[in-house]
Amino acid sequence: MKNSISTFISAKHNREKLTMLTAYDYSMAKLIDECGVNGILVGDSLGMVCLGYKDTLSVTMEDMLHHTKAVSRGTKNALVVSDMPFMSYQTSLYDAVKNAGRFVQEAGAEAIKLEGGAVVCPQIQAIVNAQIPVMGHIGLTPQSVNMFGGFKVQGKNIVDAKKLIEDAKKIEASGAFAIVLECIPSKLADIISKEISIPTIGIGAGGGCDGQILVYQDMLNMFSDFKPKFVKTFANIGDLMRDGFKSYIKEVSEGTFPNDEHCFKIDDEILSKLY
Ligand code: KIV
Repeated sequence: MKNSISTFISAKHNREKLTMLTAYDYSMAKLIDECGVNGILVGDSLGMVCLGYKDTLSVTMEDMLHHTKAVSRGTKNALVVSDMPFMSYQTSLYDAVKNAGRFVQEAGAEAIKLEGGAVVCPQIQAIVNAQIPVMGHIGLTPQSVNMFGGFKVQGKNIVDAKKLIEDAKKIEASGAFAIVLECIPSKLADIISKEISIPTIGIGAGGGCDGQILVYQDMLNMFSDFKPKFVKTFANIGDLMRDGFKSYIKEVSEGTFPNDEHCFKIDDEILSKLY
């Protein structure tokens, strides 16, 4: 069944957990979609897990559009949400609406996500007014890594915890249909999830959120630069891939691949006429 923002809203009312995963290309989006996930996020984590940057700040609109197009082509049922990259919405309301529109018009996204609390609420309102669904994102918002002084758990003191609750309420009031809560204490995420009527999608925010999201390379153990505490390895695909690549190298080196089974034939008669 096709997921829409209504699926997200009714899941919260019916206390059904929502599932989201990231994807960045056609074949992975197709695999994930076939498994029945509610939403696929083309995250700007692209910058780290696919493009090899140390953070997400170098990711551009063109990068995100390129990968969103591939994911949209591979997705039938999941809601496709695209991440607005650093500096694509902070600069002005005009930029925010214009760039959000590009994801829908050029790349087939059905919603966009942007990072930040009260300070980006005018952008959320403007994008929603342009009829584009918005997912908020608070807590450890990676585009603010330099302000945070590193990738650190957020909301651990009273001022920050209160601000996160207020931010979530303002994001809801601005018209967002869901909010990602990243790397905040579970009990704070529980409070936020109870205080707002739109679904919270947690990553490192505990089991009380209305849904969960993970970066697929993390949960399949395919990304070895670092492993956040909140990641569980659901399948050891990284090791399986390594085994596969090593077997390929061995068989090619030993001359056992390719064999007859993988080769095309030609009539001897035609061969004899070549020389
Ligand atoms: O970019 C991303 O993948 C994200 C998720 C981790 C929520 O923002």
